[in-house]
Amino acid sequence: MKIAVITGASSGLGAQFALSVDKSRNEIEEIWLVARRKDKLESLSEKLNKKTRILALDITDNENLSEYTSALKETEAEVSLLINNAGFGKLGNFDELSAEDNGGMVRLNCEALTVFTALTLPFMKTSGEIINSCSIASFAPNTRMAVYSSTKAYVMSLSRALRGELKERKINVLAACPGPMDTEFLSLAGIEKGSSHTFDTLPRVNPKVMAEKSLIASKRKKAVYTNRVFFKFYRVLAKLLPHSLVMKMAAT
Ligand SMILES: NC(=O)c1ccc[n+]([C@@H]2O[C@H](COP(=O)([O-])OP(=O)(O)OC[C@H]3O[C@@H](n4cnc5c(N)ncnc54)[C@H](OP(=O)(O)O)[C@@H]3O)[C@@H](O)[C@H]2O)c1
Repeated sequence: MKIAVITGASSGLGAQFALSVDKSRNEIEEIWLVARRKDKLESLSEKLNKKTRILALDITDNENLSEYTSALKETEAEVSLLINNAGFGKLGNFDELSAEDNGGMVRLNCEALTVFTALTLPFMKTSGEIINSCSIASFAPNTRMAVYSSTKAYVMSLSRALRGELKERKINVLAACPGPMDTEFLSLAGIEKGSSHTFDTLPRVNPKVMAEKSLIASKRKKAVYTNRVFFKFYRVLAKLLPHSLVMKMAAT
């Protein structure tokens, strides 16, 4: 049985990934929805045509993760698409944010994504796909989002290296890099009108479009996908200019 596993599926981009996989991926027989809020996963599941499995798990918790690996073993599932999407960020200087938030971003965005991938890979055969939700914040360091942008730089670096390693197994790894999307992410990050001039003025990315186009880019075996010309241009600038300058231009 070919399955897609999506972490952070209870809201925002993850829910859009689920809807888009349901619509566009004929080869997938079942979608596994992973996040902590079971009720949200259940109501998403009702909107999907494909069979689903709900895994209400905190992926930073090793005991919770053993439930995931047991499910993989019991069903003898073949994961043909893994979308590592769960993540959060916090706006604020490093020394203003709590140790729990600073460490929590590393635990979820980096450690849990890494562990989840390692647990899943043995259940992937050839021609599989991994999509990692990264961010435009991975392109250069960002003040007032120091830890968040560092976690996404890790996701970018891991995605590229893993893509190289998994070429032999014909598994593609895509770093999907959205700009700001109006999801729960922004309020959880403490980003509201007036809290950051940059966020107030940046164009918004539509999560539905981001999910659909990331899936197309993944199918085409791309390494990185960024939505909207504005952010594609930023990505080029961040490659060409010294990061000290990019940081000033993109100061939040
Ligand atoms: N929105 C933006 O502006 C933006 C921009 C660039 C990149 N991104 C990235 O895009 C991804 C999706 O973000 P989003 O905008 O869709 O935000 P969101 O709506 O807040 O979604 C985050 C998802 O992660 C899940 N999650 C959080 N902690 C978890 C945990 N410990 N275990 C399992 N699941 C957990 C949440 O579900 P539960 O609370 O139910 O667990 C939720 O489904 C993230 O990686 C984010 O960094 C977002």
